[in-house]
Amino acid sequence: MAAMDLWERNKYLPAGILLLATVVFLKLVWGLAALRSRRRLPPAVKAFPLVGGLIRFMKGPIMMVREEYAKLGSVFTLNLLNRRITFFIGPEVSSHFFKAPESDLSQQEVYQFNVPTFGRGVVFDVDYCVRQEQFRFFTEALRVNKLRSYVDQMILEAEVSECMLLNAYLQVDHHQLVDCCFISIPLVLLDILNSNTINYILQDYFSKWGESGTVDLKYELEHLIILTASRCLLGREVRDKLFDDVSALFHDLDNGMRPISVIFPYLPIPAHRRRDRARLRIAEIFASIIKSRKCSGSSEDDMLQCFIDSKYKNGRSTTESEITGLLIAALFAGQHTSSITSTWTGAYLLKYNEYLSAAIDEQKKLMKKHGEVLDHDILSEMEVLYRCIKEALRLHPPLIILLRQSHSDFTVKTRDGAEYEIPKGHIVATSPAFANRLPYIYKDPDSYDPGRFAPGREEDKAAGPFSYISFGGGRHGCLGEPFAYLQIKAIWSHLLRNFEFELVSPFPEIDWNAMVVGVKGQVMVRYKRRKLLVE
Ligand code: HEM
Repeated sequence: MAAMDLWERNKYLPAGILLLATVVFLKLVWGLAALRSRRRLPPAVKAFPLVGGLIRFMKGPIMMVREEYAKLGSVFTLNLLNRRITFFIGPEVSSHFFKAPESDLSQQEVYQFNVPTFGRGVVFDVDYCVRQEQFRFFTEALRVNKLRSYVDQMILEAEVSECMLLNAYLQVDHHQLVDCCFISIPLVLLDILNSNTINYILQDYFSKWGESGTVDLKYELEHLIILTASRCLLGREVRDKLFDDVSALFHDLDNGMRPISVIFPYLPIPAHRRRDRARLRIAEIFASIIKSRKCSGSSEDDMLQCFIDSKYKNGRSTTESEITGLLIAALFAGQHTSSITSTWTGAYLLKYNEYLSAAIDEQKKLMKKHGEVLDHDILSEMEVLYRCIKEALRLHPPLIILLRQSHSDFTVKTRDGAEYEIPKGHIVATSPAFANRLPYIYKDPDSYDPGRFAPGREEDKAAGPFSYISFGGGRHGCLGEPFAYLQIKAIWSHLLRNFEFELVSPFPEIDWNAMVVGVKGQVMVRYKRRKLLVE
């Protein structure tokens, strides 16, 4: 009887357990399905098949990014011919872009188009281990002690006058010529050029401007930065003796880097042929200079010397062709980027009187403290000027899109929690030009407001790393950032101390068509020479 009762009471138990298990199973499947639906491929940009993506991209990549970000969010894929480019916009998603190891996201494939310009055996033509060693050479060449001496040379470049050099040359006793295999340099000139003091300086580079006048600031700053970069990076031989030749060759090298070169770097077009001829000639020139330095045993304070003295971990010295390639890479990395940033900084200072006055006041304070001297440490004290440059660079990063090649599948999570799977084989991109203006990071993001970086506000830090990416960041962050700031500060500090300016052309527009995006057209300024007075 009791057994019957027990059976009666429990006869539904197996069915209940089955039901429960089914519910749990369905919930699990449902949960997994929900997870899968949130973990999906990024949305794709709508465009006509085959060439649609290319047309959208060529019409203006940033315009495309702006429109698609509004429609699709921070991660989306553009089908460009047979390639898939997935964009990551904003620090939350781009952190993987910047931090991923080379085995997951690499630069070599996407930046291959630089190889004919930089040359064989360097940077993007070598595997990652060698490239890391070569970037170590860059890091060493840009250490603070090196920067100190570069600054002295930059200031000298901005302030020493051509007529002073000529006078020195004319006064020289011809027995005092330093002869080596390649060049002869008057000793008087060497004294002046190696001097750490600028007491010798009689007039400045800008002396050719006269007492007052009108100039194209963009042209002038481009020219000045070629001079400073030539002296600090390429070395004295180039700056003093071969400047015109080497500048013309670099011009051809530069013009050989066209938008079409990104896809077809070896296309037999005249610009590429001129590039290749120029590259060969530059290699010959540097081979002679390097031989000359080695055989005379002379050593200089420049990047060329650092590369000559560099050694790989296995003890091997750099070859002439590697040294030349690394120098070209340095010049390409720093030349346009710095001159464009100097021009935007000037244009904004001349547009907004409040920031100009703040920058001038800072110069006055420093002059009161240190006198007229300018050196690495005094430039480092220029916080106001630093923020003015940084803000110009936030609004106008010259490298508008950064790329990587993905080698493994990975997942990214957006700010609002959506997860996307990025398959191996995609090109991954991020855009400093767009991400630097995200309104949830920067207040009133399109306006020029250097104070946003001041203590207390620090908008770029508040949102975490990779909120300000004009210099990239993470694993491949710019190695030349301190050099670039010092160079631009040295120039603007000199200009603020010696001239008054007025912008006479309309505020410049952005030249989106350039490979390194800069200022469109001329930036005409009226200047008047005046010495900044300290009360
Ligand atoms: C305003 C001036 C400059 C800007 C805006 C700038 C910007 C950048 C950016 C965005 C990157 C990262 C590229 C990427 O992630 O794909 C980069 C990398 C680099 N930059 Fe600069 N740069 C400037 C000046 C310089 C200068 C003056 C030099 C050297 C003299 C230099 C040397 C380098 C090097 C060697 C790298 C590669 C680092 C690596 O891949 O590990 N840059 N730069």
